[in-house]
Amino acid sequence: MNSVRAFTVIALAACAGSGACTVERAQAPAAAGSGAVAFDAAAWKPPAEADIPADSLGAAIRRGLALVRFTPESLPKYVRSNMRCVSCHENDGTKVTAAPLIGSHARFPKYLSRSGTVVTLADRVNFCMTRSLAGRALPVDSREMDDILAYLAFISRDVPVGRHLSAVDGLLPMKDTLVGDTLRGHALFTNTCAVCHQADGSGHSPIPALWGAGSFTIAASMARQERAASFIFHNMPQTAPGSLTEQNAFDLAAYINSHPRPDAPLKENDWPHGGAPRDVPYATRGHAAFNPPARLITRAPGTER
Ligand code: HEC
Ligand code: HEC
Repeated sequence: MNSVRAFTVIALAACAGSGACTVERAQAPAAAGSGAVAFDAAAWKPPAEADIPADSLGAAIRRGLALVRFTPESLPKYVRSNMRCVSCHENDGTKVTAAPLIGSHARFPKYLSRSGTVVTLADRVNFCMTRSLAGRALPVDSREMDDILAYLAFISRDVPVGRHLSAVDGLLPMKDTLVGDTLRGHALFTNTCAVCHQADGSGHSPIPALWGAGSFTIAASMARQERAASFIFHNMPQTAPGSLTEQNAFDLAAYINSHPRPDAPLKENDWPHGGAPRDVPYATRGHAAFNPPARLITRAPGTER
């Protein structure tokens, strides 16, 4: 497949300004959709770590990979929580059921209804820095941000700009008719999850925290019941994913998200044009908080943005 794709690219490059263009294109494999360059989204696979080039760009990609794997250890000034990028974006961001980052380089800039604006990939990374990791935003002109973006571009290799990969759009949607029950969730958690995540949800690095000061903030996608249920249903318990029912996953998500977690300043400004999903646990324009935890944890000054 790689050699076929390479042929297509060479053929198109060779046809610039020459009459041979249409002939060359006709020999290329059938184009997917309306795009001129063939791209088979279903067959595409991200490159492996071993494919990282041995040059300066490769060094940046490797640094970016280290940052997503060891986020608090590498960025102590920015992240203090007991979470890394790969706590949620499993398999270095390549696992399709765990909010995959593959192809993300081709999906941004993008309009996000949550912020009501078009955001770049660097902005999107920073939303996870401040909301999911309860940390501070990385300066967009820092080497660390460049390195993370280099890694994201690497695992998006060959995906045409603007294209969506099959089934790659955040966490996979769950049935919106299910409602979690915290009592059932508590029992399940004690039996199935506490062995790793601890009875008090604080985890034990590299096992991430599910609630409390070391966990994700109230404004993270994971703090929404349906989003957390999707992650749990498809990926947990880590040693036996697929062993829970969808209802189990909602019950666990309800239990986990009923606990205190770090606050996120200005969260009420999310979805400025309305239309917040049903399970957002804080009030926004035209939306009442869904099952908010009884208490939120104030973040230390300077770490909240
Ligand atoms: C607490 C879990 C969690 C952590 C930790 C986390 N993220 Fe995310 N991230 C998500 C979820 C969930 C989504 C998808 C949102 C959705 O499905 O609603 C997402 C989305 C993204 C996206 C957008 C993907 C796309 O194509 O739309 C990027 C980029 C991203 N995260 C990067 C990062 C990076 C880099 C880090 C570490 C600095 C990180 N995330 C840490 C949960 C997390
Ligand atoms: C064998 C240990 C283990 C068990 C058991 C386990 N987890 Fe996890 N969990 C992990 C690890 C490790 C991660 C980080 C991602 C990874 O490395 O796969 C994680 C990540 C998570 C995350 C996303 C990151 C975060 O902190 O929010 C959630 C949510 C989660 N687990 C919930 C659960 C639930 C619910 C159960 C019980 C059904 C469970 N886990 C059972 C080890 C475990």
